[in-house]
Amino acid sequence: MTEEQLARGLKGVVIDKTESSKIDGKLGKLIYHGYDIHDLAEKSTFEEVCYLLWHGKLPTQKELDDLSRSLAENRALPPQILQIIDLVKATHPMDALRTGVSALATFDPDTEDNSPAANLRKAIRLTAQTATIVAAHERIRKGQKAVAPDPSLNHAANFLYMLKGEKPDAESARAIDLDLLLHADHSSNASAFAARVTTGTNADMHAAIVSAIATLKGPAHGGAAQAVMTMTAEIGEPERAEQWVKDAIAAKKRVMGFGHRVYKTEDPRARHLRDRVRHMGEKYGQVKWFQILSRVEEAMAPYRERGIYVNVDFYAGAAYSLLGIPEDLFIPMFALGRMPGWITQILEQWADNILLRPLLKYVGPVDLPYIPISERK
Ligand code: SDX
Repeated sequence: MTEEQLARGLKGVVIDKTESSKIDGKLGKLIYHGYDIHDLAEKSTFEEVCYLLWHGKLPTQKELDDLSRSLAENRALPPQILQIIDLVKATHPMDALRTGVSALATFDPDTEDNSPAANLRKAIRLTAQTATIVAAHERIRKGQKAVAPDPSLNHAANFLYMLKGEKPDAESARAIDLDLLLHADHSSNASAFAARVTTGTNADMHAAIVSAIATLKGPAHGGAAQAVMTMTAEIGEPERAEQWVKDAIAAKKRVMGFGHRVYKTEDPRARHLRDRVRHMGEKYGQVKWFQILSRVEEAMAPYRERGIYVNVDFYAGAAYSLLGIPEDLFIPMFALGRMPGWITQILEQWADNILLRPLLKYVGPVDLPYIPISERK
């Protein structure tokens, strides 16, 4: 690439090799370590995908049982973290999560140890504890006591239990388990890139996860699911969807949940959430969200010829809403799902680390004489 060629947004720039996930934007395919997302969505679990991403192979039953037990044993938070969450209870849940992970670095025995063994211990603790932080903040900000984790439940079921104070039904737990694994890794998205940049300086895993959480919050990345539900509320009725889309496009607005830097066809994750929202809407008698979203999707059909299709965030928000999860928790849900992916990319960066330091093309003035302040106009 010559010095003149700018790659703004790093569009199309390949920064490293990876074995964790591969996106085919033309065919609309996503694989984790060789396994297709459709197989994993239908047959796997969040815990199994964590193992696959961190170890590069599907676990044996014993390996899966050991990981599930380790995650369950590491869900509790140091009491000081709950105090900090109480101090920041009025803040956005993503800021509470970012603050909580920062504070966890103070109490983690392995924070400064970046060896593979210590990083795997931190992978388990951070994946387990971030779910507890999100659930605890939600309860504390509502004036309720945080619910202690239940080691007998899997990661998804335990999250809902800590969030609501009652054990979820199997269908709700599976819906969260599916959502988390669909979000688990996605090549070099902005937040994973941020985690790599931080790791590239030899900063520790807590620091890299804080970078990733801070980056995910933006509406152009993780914030879209919340923005989709705001749009859905604005539309209000299925019949109004088509005009709403026409007006948005005419006003050069971005329709949230559509478009993607890499996918130029349907995001393969979307179909699983679309089906889940349709099914849960019918089961709970709350079909309006699905009806409105479907009409928006129909109205956006003409933009497919420009490669603008529905992405993972379009139906995710409706799934969370049907499960009674408040809108400002949608981005944290994305973060909880993406934890294993951020971590696998941090592990890959450590395995053959290099400082990520791109260039900027300077276009400002040069060789200006320094004018004493007394002579400046
Ligand atoms: C995620 O990177 C990842 O992998 C991310 C993610 C992951 O798993 O980590 O997949 C998760 O972040 C999904 C994306 C969630 N964000 C949204 O849904 C927000 C809405 N989408 C857009 O902001 C946009 O599509 C981006 C930011 C996602 C991608 O934008 P690009 O690749 O930088 O493309 P662009 O902004 O240059 O747009 C190209 C054209 C433009 O038209 P022109 O100016 O050329 O006329 O497409 C148009 C855009 O206006 N366009 C849209 C649109 N997205 C792009 N027009 C209307 N609505 C949209 N949503």
